[in-house]
Amino acid sequence: MAQNVKILSTGRYVPDRVLTNYDLEKMVDTSDEWITQRTGIKERRIVDGTTSTTDLAVRAAKNAMDKAGILPDDIDLVIVATVTPEMFFPSTACLVQKELKLKNAFAFDISAACSGFIYAMAIATHFIQNGFCKNALVIGAEALSRITNWSDRSTCVLFGDGAGAAILSSGDEQGILGFELGSDGENGLLLYCHAFGLSDVTYSQVKENPNFRKIYMEGNEVYKFAVKIMPYAVEKVLEKVGLSSSDIDVFIPHQANIRIIESAAKRLKIPMEKVFVNLHKYGNTSAASIPIALDEAVEEGRIKKGDKVVLVGFGGGLTWASTVIKWV
Ligand code: UT7
Repeated sequence: MAQNVKILSTGRYVPDRVLTNYDLEKMVDTSDEWITQRTGIKERRIVDGTTSTTDLAVRAAKNAMDKAGILPDDIDLVIVATVTPEMFFPSTACLVQKELKLKNAFAFDISAACSGFIYAMAIATHFIQNGFCKNALVIGAEALSRITNWSDRSTCVLFGDGAGAAILSSGDEQGILGFELGSDGENGLLLYCHAFGLSDVTYSQVKENPNFRKIYMEGNEVYKFAVKIMPYAVEKVLEKVGLSSSDIDVFIPHQANIRIIESAAKRLKIPMEKVFVNLHKYGNTSAASIPIALDEAVEEGRIKKGDKVVLVGFGGGLTWASTVIKWV
């Protein structure tokens, strides 16, 4: 029989260093006014030279484990969603396993950019439902500043670093009600970052251009995709679980741009009072954005027992993902 799955606890960690819009004014041709009006972002957190994605992930995970009061031996699965691993292998998840001494777990990373945390939740949920695992540590962690092109004003003002985590466990009551996941590889090159340069051509491009291995984005096209796909992904998942948007108590969208969030909320007829927004403090932290927001929403008392919470993300791939959670 399928096991029920719930969120046992959440956690987060962001680096101390704050980079404000005013700091960016000194780096590229931009202004606090432009960034605030077009994105809603006021500041973002940036790792120092010695902090890795693994360090961020470990601290967020530890925070979630402490809140749940769970022992390292009881975690049997670790999944890290990231597009900024410090190594190609071992996976960030295996590095987290080592740091936190999660010796009974199997661990791996997934790459689904800003949808990564919900993709990872879906994978963990299915393992738990099948009885293969009991307690999964799911983490979204990014040091995006390492792949940001700091001379491109159209992207460098958007991103930040951080990590969020959740422990998913089998439980008496069904907490995680359903998922909608999708991707569109056809349009993947609207938003990308090169890894290896395997051909001679790529090799010479890397040598000539230090920003070759940095984020590239066609912002307007991604914007158009986002405002369409967010409401679509939410409507689909609500339909699957037999609910409507008026049943949503708390809406936690990927924190990319306040205009995208407001447009999605409007199309879904969700009042902004039900929408959790923290992008003014952190910018877009890709896979970390949704779990950081979820943890802050819990901490601020925005989510109460019995509430229906919807998470939705979109991003590189292109990918999208949504889930409905009953807070039990
Ligand atoms: O999670 C990953 C998913 N990515 C996203 O969610 C990003 C989706 N896209 C967006 O959020 C928006 O497209 C942006 C915030 C990236 C850009 O906003 P926009 O309203 O679409 O601006 P735009 O690209 O149409 O640019 C408008 C103007 C341009 O100048 P001209 O051609 O009108 O003279 C840009 O060169 O703004 C200029 N511009 C800037 N000006 C000051 C672009 N970036 C900046 C900047 N500061 N940082």
